[in-house]
Amino acid sequence: MTIKEKLRLRAATVEEFFGTALQDKGIPPQLLEAMEYSLKAGGKRLRPVLCLSFAMMHGAASIDIRSFACAFEFIHTYSLIHDDLPAMDDDDLRRGKPSNHKMFGEAVAILAGDALLTEAFALMAKTSAFIPSKSILKAMIEATKAAGAAGMVGGQTIDMGFTAREGVSLPELRDMHARKTGALITAPCVCGAILAQASTEDIRRAREYGREIGIAFQIVDDILDVVGNEADLGKPVGSDEAQGKSTYPALLGIEESKRLAEERIATALESLSPYRGEHADFLRELAAYIVERVN
Ligand code: IPE
Ligand code: IPE
Ligand code: MG
Ligand code: MG
Ligand code: MG
Repeated sequence: MTIKEKLRLRAATVEEFFGTALQDKGIPPQLLEAMEYSLKAGGKRLRPVLCLSFAMMHGAASIDIRSFACAFEFIHTYSLIHDDLPAMDDDDLRRGKPSNHKMFGEAVAILAGDALLTEAFALMAKTSAFIPSKSILKAMIEATKAAGAAGMVGGQTIDMGFTAREGVSLPELRDMHARKTGALITAPCVCGAILAQASTEDIRRAREYGREIGIAFQIVDDILDVVGNEADLGKPVGSDEAQGKSTYPALLGIEESKRLAEERIATALESLSPYRGEHADFLRELAAYIVERVN
């Protein structure tokens, strides 16, 4: 099986849960439709799969982690809905379909994002009774920091500030990537380990892996915005350049950006070196797949 197929298989276990996660909650139909539209539009499901895979590698059962793992996809989907809004990247296509605001209007798109973010915390709190409350709380604090003001939201704010600004330095770019994308890729890895009650050293390694693949992931996303195609990506290409975004390719060129992404992946792989078995192998292949997407 290819890594793409393995990822799809793990993603399917997450998607099964989306069908029921929002049912019978008394959500107004118009809002529910907008939330489910983006949630069910597709996507690689990388973040929940990372959470599940780290938890399983450290001995937890997938069924006990599923709710928490799905919460990351809710948060990520909200971030995409807001990222596409006219006030932000103003993109009309997402996951191969019209962006949320194109379908439902800006007001409903903003509210669908707000609702997905809020419901994510209920999903986290409802993690299985087989996981100690102390671990759930610790993981929730981790997820909150990653999604919040010093994490993704902070990174998106920096991104907006850098747009059309000349002379953004590499350290500034790295910090922006670590926040806007890295944080919500690192947190699922760390939370998976925390929820499985892994050791401090295992949690440290999960954080290192997540940090490295997270930065590589955004570098690759930036490269694909230049060299990728709309049909494969399900979102517009050339959007970054059109808006004067600060990106790795804009600062360093494609080849050097690829090299830096590969360097990150090599470090991520080192952090997995003590682990054996199906889940460790999956996480190794997944790291390699992130940069393979541009080759
Ligand atoms: C896109 O994320 C936005 C970034 C943070 C780079 P993904 O590439 O994971 O998007 P989906 O979830 O597969 O649609
Ligand atoms: C977005 O980065 C990161 C988020 C926090 C959503 P981009 O703006 O590059 O993501 P895409 O390319 O629109 O998916
Ligand atoms: Mg953006
Ligand atoms: Mg965008
Ligand atoms: Mg992008």
